[in-house]
Amino acid sequence: MSKVAIVGAGVIGVSWGRLARRHGWSVVFSDPRPDLAELVAKNFPGDAAVTVAADLATAVAGADLVQENGPERLEIKQQLFATIVAATGPDTVLATSSSSIAATLIAAELDDAAAAKIVVGHPFNPPELMPLVEVVPGERTSAATTDRAVAIYRSWDRTPVVLGKELPGFVANRLQSVLGREARWLVEQGVVDVAQLDTILQNSLGLRWSTIGLFEGNVLGGGPGGARHLFAGVGAVTGKIQFHDPDPAQVPALIEQIEATYGTGQDVYDELSAKRDTRTTAVLAALAATEARTGN
Ligand SMILES: NC(=O)c1ccc[n+]([C@@H]2O[C@H](COP(=O)([O-])OP(=O)(O)OC[C@H]3O[C@@H](n4cnc5c(N)ncnc54)[C@H](O)[C@@H]3O)[C@@H](O)[C@H]2O)c1
Repeated sequence: MSKVAIVGAGVIGVSWGRLARRHGWSVVFSDPRPDLAELVAKNFPGDAAVTVAADLATAVAGADLVQENGPERLEIKQQLFATIVAATGPDTVLATSSSSIAATLIAAELDDAAAAKIVVGHPFNPPELMPLVEVVPGERTSAATTDRAVAIYRSWDRTPVVLGKELPGFVANRLQSVLGREARWLVEQGVVDVAQLDTILQNSLGLRWSTIGLFEGNVLGGGPGGARHLFAGVGAVTGKIQFHDPDPAQVPALIEQIEATYGTGQDVYDELSAKRDTRTTAVLAALAATEARTGN
């Protein structure tokens, strides 16, 4: 049985663990949190293939993949990977789920052989449902490591995309961030409130982008003339829109409005994450069934 060592058992680590188990891997968790054993027992009841390691070196020894999901701080990730490389052989893929820290930085203090094994494998939350994994090799990551990471994520039914350059936020979060900035500005200006902004997104771009891509949408938006027609017509006008940064001083008011709209606290988190998971599962199932039936 292949083995994954999950380092950091927070939101992302536990979800990776569930995905790996679904695909028949054994899972060992490492995390200094005092409630680790209870957390694992609660999430994987009675599953002997899921274990908790006494320390990091023990967790990663003999693993085919190490998936690191500790805090998003460079010095912590550098420390973790220094221990991980010392305790693993040359064929173990060492991946970080980091949303923003490049593999080149994490490996900065390590020798070439160690750096060759480290790659970013950035999931979208929750990894067990969201297909995308951004695979981002560092300057010294070997092609073999990147290829192996891609093969593992594919075998877990994910959709890995290998990026050509390391950039803060990679691609998906850069796009989310641009959209988020404009959304904040629109709410600040009183164009829409928080609930209306979400209604607009869910009923337009969200639905569209779960079925076709952004550039693919450009082809369709131009009719039979395609993207060429769209860029010359509507695109020429929308391309001149001026954008503004949201005001940092307005963040507290925005957060108040978000909390007033959706609530806050553990019960709200449980309720909203259950809604998200049910709906995401339903969309994925519908897309898979449609593809099986129609080929599209
Ligand atoms: N939350 C997201 O939406 C999201 C999405 C994609 C990627 N990520 C990335 O995943 C990583 C984890 O994020 P999260 O949201 O799961 O955070 P989280 O705060 O839920 O979990 C972090 C876990 O790391 C543990 N930890 C602390 N020090 C540690 C150490 N020395 N060794 C091992 N574990 C340690 C904590 O106890 C905690 O359980 C981050 O790098 C983040 O950028 C997060």
